[in-house]
Amino acid sequence: MNVIEIRKHFPIYEHQPHLTYLDSAASALKLNEVLEAIKHYYETSSANIMRSGFKNAYQSTLDYEHSRHVIKQLIHATYDEEVIFTKGATQSINMVAHHYESVLQKGDEILISHLEHHANILPWQNVCKKTGASLKYVALDQHFKITEDALLKSINERTKIVALTYISNVMGYITPLQKVIQKAHEVGAVVLVDAAQAVAHIEINVQTLDCDYLVFSGHKMFGPTGVGILYGKQTLLSHLTPFELGGQMMDEVDEQHYTLAKLPARLEAGTPPIAEAIALAPAAMFIKSIGYNNIHAHIKSIHTYTLQSLKTLKDIEIYNETADIGIVTFNIRGVHAHDVQSFLSEEDVAVRTGHHCAKLIHQQLKQAATIRVSISIYNSKEDIDQLIKALKQAITFFIH
Ligand SMILES: Cc1ncc(COP(=O)(O)O)c(C=O)c1O
Repeated sequence: MNVIEIRKHFPIYEHQPHLTYLDSAASALKLNEVLEAIKHYYETSSANIMRSGFKNAYQSTLDYEHSRHVIKQLIHATYDEEVIFTKGATQSINMVAHHYESVLQKGDEILISHLEHHANILPWQNVCKKTGASLKYVALDQHFKITEDALLKSINERTKIVALTYISNVMGYITPLQKVIQKAHEVGAVVLVDAAQAVAHIEINVQTLDCDYLVFSGHKMFGPTGVGILYGKQTLLSHLTPFELGGQMMDEVDEQHYTLAKLPARLEAGTPPIAEAIALAPAAMFIKSIGYNNIHAHIKSIHTYTLQSLKTLKDIEIYNETADIGIVTFNIRGVHAHDVQSFLSEEDVAVRTGHHCAKLIHQQLKQAATIRVSISIYNSKEDIDQLIKALKQAITFFIH
């Protein structure tokens, strides 16, 4: 992959040529094509969708629905209306959890893991509080991985929901989902897959996976903030209790009652993030045009180089050497991650430090905070050299 060519698609590099951006797991850089789509909508239409019939409004509605179709193709859903635009992965999970607040009962179990982002923990804790259901955690192995074996053993006839990350945002491990989803279905449970980290890295096929729900955010796939996706099987989404009410999501309304519209409108109350949703299409098309195999191969090579380079430094403790994608989580022994960040920031090296909204895995790692480097298609070996240079300065200052 030609990083110089790839970077031409990301205008931030024109403004900040010295930026070493290694925080794509938090938010990826934004594509020029995405910014253009947003500008185009505001400059040429600005109209609301699904409501007025004038030309601009009609065109924007078409563009919005086209984007739904492109996302449907990206994740291999069966129908366009199985793709719901939301605010992001967090809102998508909350929408599903909200529904199950009126479905689960005492004695039911929800299965999650210690690797989850808070977005896939807190809503389920809430469901348990409201229904009396129990929140169960699959046991991680000695490398803090979720194994198929442990998952299969954790699913039983009380399991009603299995909600798992497809790829951990801290450890970069891919969760083995295929057989787990089969087993969950055998006991009558539904499976939600948190694909927030997966969507920019691995091909997602919701039909082959046979998951019931899948969620992700636009901003981690080179798209805008403020928009995300809830995928759900048509049969399930058509019965999902809407999280919000109002706007065009109704069919009939009288003084005391309303009936709900068909999918996808029934789950998209109010004016949606129109520009952002439209701009998700070029992001998905960009990923497809490069191809997941090429993306993976490039990231893997930079990932290997990162691990090799980090190992030349003393006092570095890496927690996930066998990550499946380009995420390296580590610490400098005896130095708080936030202190390291100030050195990196001085050198224009952007990484994430802290608990990465995943406190439970940090408790397992026995670390209050870690440094996370996350690699994407625009990163080069020179980025890693910059990182190492800044880390050396931090080590010299704090330790030697
Ligand atoms: C695995 C995972 N799930 C969910 C989320 C939440 O995404 P958002 O904040 O875009 O809703 C994130 C964000 O970092 C994540 O990494």
